[in-house]
Amino acid sequence: MSRVYHPSSHVVEKSRLSSFNKYKEMHKKSLEQPEEFWSEIAKDFYWMTPHEPGKFLSYNFDINKGDIFVKWMEGAKTNITINILDRKVRDGFGDRIAYYWEGNHPEDYSRITYKKLLEQVCKFANMLRSHGVGKGDRVSIYMPMILETAVCMLACARIGAIHSVVFAGFSSDSLAERMSDCKAKILVTADGAWRGEKLLILKNTCDEAMEKARTKLNHTVEKCIVVAHLDRVTPCGPISDDVRTLYKWNDGVDLWWHEVIKDQSIICAPECMDAEDPLFMLYTSGSTGKPKGVLHTTAGYLLYATATFRYVFDYDAKDIYWCTADVGWITGHTYVVYAPLANCATSVMFEGTPFYPDNDRYWEVVEKYKVTQMYTAPTAIRSLMKFGEQYLAKHDLTSLRVLGSVGEPINPEAWYWYYNLVGSGRCSIVDTFWQTETGGHVLTSLPGATPMKPGAAGFPFFGVEPIILDENGKVIEGPGEGYLVFSRPWPGIMRTLYGDHERYQKVYFSKFPGYYCTGDGARRDEDGFLWVTGRIDDMLNVSGHLMSTSEVESVLTEDTRVSEAAVVSKPHPQKGESLYCFIILNEGVSFTPNLVNDLKKHIRNRIGAFAAPDVIQYAPGLPKTRSGKIMRRILRKIAVGDTDIGDTSTLADPSVVEELYKNRP
Ligand code: WTA
Repeated sequence: MSRVYHPSSHVVEKSRLSSFNKYKEMHKKSLEQPEEFWSEIAKDFYWMTPHEPGKFLSYNFDINKGDIFVKWMEGAKTNITINILDRKVRDGFGDRIAYYWEGNHPEDYSRITYKKLLEQVCKFANMLRSHGVGKGDRVSIYMPMILETAVCMLACARIGAIHSVVFAGFSSDSLAERMSDCKAKILVTADGAWRGEKLLILKNTCDEAMEKARTKLNHTVEKCIVVAHLDRVTPCGPISDDVRTLYKWNDGVDLWWHEVIKDQSIICAPECMDAEDPLFMLYTSGSTGKPKGVLHTTAGYLLYATATFRYVFDYDAKDIYWCTADVGWITGHTYVVYAPLANCATSVMFEGTPFYPDNDRYWEVVEKYKVTQMYTAPTAIRSLMKFGEQYLAKHDLTSLRVLGSVGEPINPEAWYWYYNLVGSGRCSIVDTFWQTETGGHVLTSLPGATPMKPGAAGFPFFGVEPIILDENGKVIEGPGEGYLVFSRPWPGIMRTLYGDHERYQKVYFSKFPGYYCTGDGARRDEDGFLWVTGRIDDMLNVSGHLMSTSEVESVLTEDTRVSEAAVVSKPHPQKGESLYCFIILNEGVSFTPNLVNDLKKHIRNRIGAFAAPDVIQYAPGLPKTRSGKIMRRILRKIAVGDTDIGDTSTLADPSVVEELYKNRP
């Protein structure tokens, strides 16, 4: 049984919630009296109109009783930016730093106060309005980690436009698909950015994506607004003297950010938004391959982002908080942009990588800004561990109090390293389990209140009621393992999939009627700790990036030489999981290193570099059931070279398996 760790006095002394009993009491109240509980958070915010009496929460989670819906604070009206910007300025925090921006090159840094951020947001919002963007319109964002990214997201929120941020590591195909799916009017990007010593010309990807959207997907994006970023940063590798020659300029479509905002007013009337009006959408991988546009709305998301940040990171007025996640993922949305600002926090926004200019960059940043809360991913921790402790020893990390982890289960080895070496044994680790769909943390520890076990996500956050079900949908009480589901909505849960409510109901609510199904497995131990055991559907988690096996399979079979493909995950020491692909070739095609390279390149182009497989193996056939279903369980064994494949009675042709073992590279 794993050891239990308790919060140290270093953490407890500063904690707003300092005992396990208090946590349990509050959790109980959050379930029994949701309106009282969440009103406490809501009263910190400004509502142009209060919610309708008796309508604080209404929902249906049971597909057999009709359409699924979730509504929090129906009828209430506000604008999220008033709450996270105007009010902070009005309350006297205008000069507080909202973000310290740290560039890829250590010599590049800047800062922005709440007042300045509000002004920039208003200017950009006015500019969007002047281009005919208004409430309900979609704006796609393909940006590096720069202050303009937050400005742009918030400007959309100011005028009620729905932002759709696409991680700037996605290929032009992926960007085109996402822009045309949501019919984005405008795309916002930067000319380029450095990632370590690598130069990315984002503008070229955008041009390709706009062209593909127009010619192949029948959608024209009207304008592309470009931040001139390369001019102002220190080059980290060779680059031509005139960066503007690295990409094309399309007159009539492209606009420079600095030019379009130049004459805009710093005052912008906020759009009046209903509690349930959309705030943003964010695409996440779906198990059928087509990405799902997860939609979050205004009031519930604000309440939930605010509360989770406050309690999970135990943010205190003078703290400096740093989340290393890219804004292209949900962690960047909630915990780089909305939640810290809602709490009037000062954050670090980091553009670079942990390895540039050297492998101590993270620790250098912690020391430089005296970071108190650091929030990162197990994959980053594992890749830093391998360089050894000497990189940590060079820096003073004593400012740290809370260490967060997100993206995948943290393996105990990484947990110990984080806890003992980064946190010197006196910081609390919060292992936060959540999803794009959940909007904010749903299972986690609380730094001053809950005990910790290395590798366990811990306990439900307020308002969250986790249930573990067996295959037949029977509730497992006490210790046991099964499907992780939730029996009621918390304020931050997604409301629909953009333009496809049917799919929303089918994917999340049909397997176990009455429950939101996460797609993850979980185990409850004897002490009531929850452990997330990983995906139970055909999803892969590579370095914290979720993707579906079928998405990669369909890209592989786009090559006319490939007749069938099956992709499974193989454990990887740094990435957590990696892709292992089996391919069946068409008649007359031979399996060559060239073919493998072509396929890897094709995946990079179609999805993004992070999806590149580690192994592509030739398969004369695939292990299938008699009904023709691929037995991925067996492929996973082959991928790791484990010959103990268990029960094969359902296998149509057992000789295939032997062949596959023989063909392992
Ligand atoms: C996995 C990221 C275990 C899980 C916020 C989930 C985790 C998926 C954890 C969502 C964690 C995330 N422990 N597993 N602390 N955090 N996951 O939508 O499989 O990018 O379903 O959201 O990541 O990934 P997504």
